[in-house]
Amino acid sequence: MSTLARRSRATSPIDARPAAAALRREIVAGLTAPARSLPCKLFYDDVGAALFEGITQLDAYYPTRTELSILRCHAREIAARLGPRCKIVEPGSGSGLKTRLLLEALDEPAAYVPVDISRAQLEEFAATLAADMPGLEVLPLAADYTAGLELPRGARAARRVAMFFPGSTIGNFEPADAVRFLARAAALVGPDGALLIGVDRKKDRATLERAYDDPEGVTAAFDLNILTHVNRLCGADFDVAGFRHHASYDEAAGRVAMHLVSLRRQCVSIPARHGEPAVRLAFDVGDAIRTEHCYKYHPSEFAALARRAGWTLEAVWTDPREWFAVLYLEPTCAPRPRRADAP
Ligand code: AVJ
Repeated sequence: MSTLARRSRATSPIDARPAAAALRREIVAGLTAPARSLPCKLFYDDVGAALFEGITQLDAYYPTRTELSILRCHAREIAARLGPRCKIVEPGSGSGLKTRLLLEALDEPAAYVPVDISRAQLEEFAATLAADMPGLEVLPLAADYTAGLELPRGARAARRVAMFFPGSTIGNFEPADAVRFLARAAALVGPDGALLIGVDRKKDRATLERAYDDPEGVTAAFDLNILTHVNRLCGADFDVAGFRHHASYDEAAGRVAMHLVSLRRQCVSIPARHGEPAVRLAFDVGDAIRTEHCYKYHPSEFAALARRAGWTLEAVWTDPREWFAVLYLEPTCAPRPRRADAP
């Protein structure tokens, strides 16, 4: 009870971050699997969060400004769909401007619950937002939103809970995991809930690959920073200069993959910890660690995926180039038993 006890100040997040031992296990499992990978949530240490902010400003990285333009153009319609007195839950609260746009358009939002693994960013964002929107109750939650969430109760009664999941972050989930995440979201918001989600659309390879490998090298720095983060978390000895960033669009799979590719033959050690043995990783030239998958969906494809998780697509807003989409979904009504079936 004590760790989950609600703090009085709006800016003290509830701490539900996963234990260091579990995180180490996840890292080791990924790095020792036949196809090596690291969980992309590890991008977002303080340096990574700042680099991501830099990415969103890049000419090559179209998603942020495109989604913002969609939210700006259709703010009224979106607010009308959501209706008054919503409690807005946002997993991954790094989206500042988008959140403001939504909250300012909404009719008397009941509360705003940002959920983020990066505690520093969460605290800063929650504090600024609470100061800028004095009427708004901000209830920050420091947690890994890929795990189950328990919503903090607010002082004001909400008419409905709506999840806001912008930025195409859903694209980071494997489709089966996206279905699980969306099903949990449906359970979290309940039958009267809603989902407003940003989804990046399929488009030409050149645009996609440039967005994930910008000429300024900010995405490369962002990708490589994950190794620094792993070194700090696990005491590993990755040499960041021994890897290069690579991004490629797999059209058949409908996703961009980011990899860190070994520039030479090298070994990396992760020391024993939490009662688990040390790990030694051998890399040949060209051996890669996958750091991220970013799935791209046509709205109808996403609707089919969401339907499996209990959601029905109710509205789609997009930009003139059809590069990005903001989707509004509601929980699918449970079919009422027909009269003939009734007892
Ligand atoms: C934050 C997951 C939406 O997939 O576009 C940006 C992360 N990675 N550049 C994305 C990211 C490389 C971003 N998301």
